[in-house]
Amino acid sequence: MSDLIAAAKALINGHLVALPTETVYGLGADATNQAAVDRIFEVKGRPRNHPLIVHLAGVEDLTDWAVEIPEYAEELAESFWPGPMTLVLKRSQLAQDFITGGQDTVGLRVPNHPVALELLREFRLLGGKGIAAPSANIFGKVSPTKSDDVYSELKTRLGENDLVLEGGVSAVGVESTIIDCTQELPAILRPGAITTEMITQVTGLAVRAGDTQIRVSGSLKSHYAPVAKVVLDGEPQPGDGLIALASYPTPDGVTRLAEPKDNAEYARELYSALRKADTLGLSKVIAVLPEGDDIAVAIRDRLTRSAH
Ligand code: TXA
Ligand code: MG
Repeated sequence: MSDLIAAAKALINGHLVALPTETVYGLGADATNQAAVDRIFEVKGRPRNHPLIVHLAGVEDLTDWAVEIPEYAEELAESFWPGPMTLVLKRSQLAQDFITGGQDTVGLRVPNHPVALELLREFRLLGGKGIAAPSANIFGKVSPTKSDDVYSELKTRLGENDLVLEGGVSAVGVESTIIDCTQELPAILRPGAITTEMITQVTGLAVRAGDTQIRVSGSLKSHYAPVAKVVLDGEPQPGDGLIALASYPTPDGVTRLAEPKDNAEYARELYSALRKADTLGLSKVIAVLPEGDDIAVAIRDRLTRSAH
């Protein structure tokens, strides 16, 4: 694991480290180093007023970054961290404007991936407080779910001291559920693997409708978009790509990009299927939306935005 010590040192020295997580790969920087965080925005081509999620080694680090934490947020953190959930909380002084986009809140997450967790622990041992990491893709594009995707997309934009860590294929495949915990009731700002039902089960609270005042770039109407045109629930024609559950047949002349057996597999394969459409140079992809209240909500959300 000495390569992770080297990676932690690179972060401390202000370099970028792309890291695997269970949702998607992130492009990490020391969340307290403005120059390093600036480079994330530069490499991604992302508007600077969009806040970044700070990744932590454990629940115990929450109070470094957040204040006035409601009881329900603690319950969520205890239940779902490490895991595919980001909590938006009132920020402490550690969370500066260059992390929060000038807002008085900060997004925090403990990822559930052995490489990410080990990196976060080594980083903490060196005095690091948290790793800011948006998805490791160019702004507006599809998030990477394996290290090859990060290389192919960011290779020419990364510096010689930046690193890309290997961690296999992301097990969840879509970004974390973002939960606004700044009011009496929680609200989902971006759906993910942690669902409304799971939040209610753990907190005993209803989930209120999301507040659009808070800036979430993943909530822009057009996002997660490949070059190919994505059409929802259309009739696939010869020459088109097709993403649908395995129960949906592939018509003659149609390129099957994914045929997941269930919604969890759909989420895991979604982004690589969209990337494959571009690799194959397809001009149109038909995506058949999955049904259900589980991770299907997140899949429908991302597909709707990629189709916009
Ligand atoms: O699964 C994930 O969340 C991945 C992995 C790498 O952890 N990260 C990720 O980061 O998706 P990014 O930057 O691509 O999306 C994070 C979203 C953005 O839409 C951002 O606006 C929102 O989180 N966000 C961050 N801090 C926030 C805050 N204080 N209030 C509201 N939204 C916030
Ligand atoms: Mg993103």
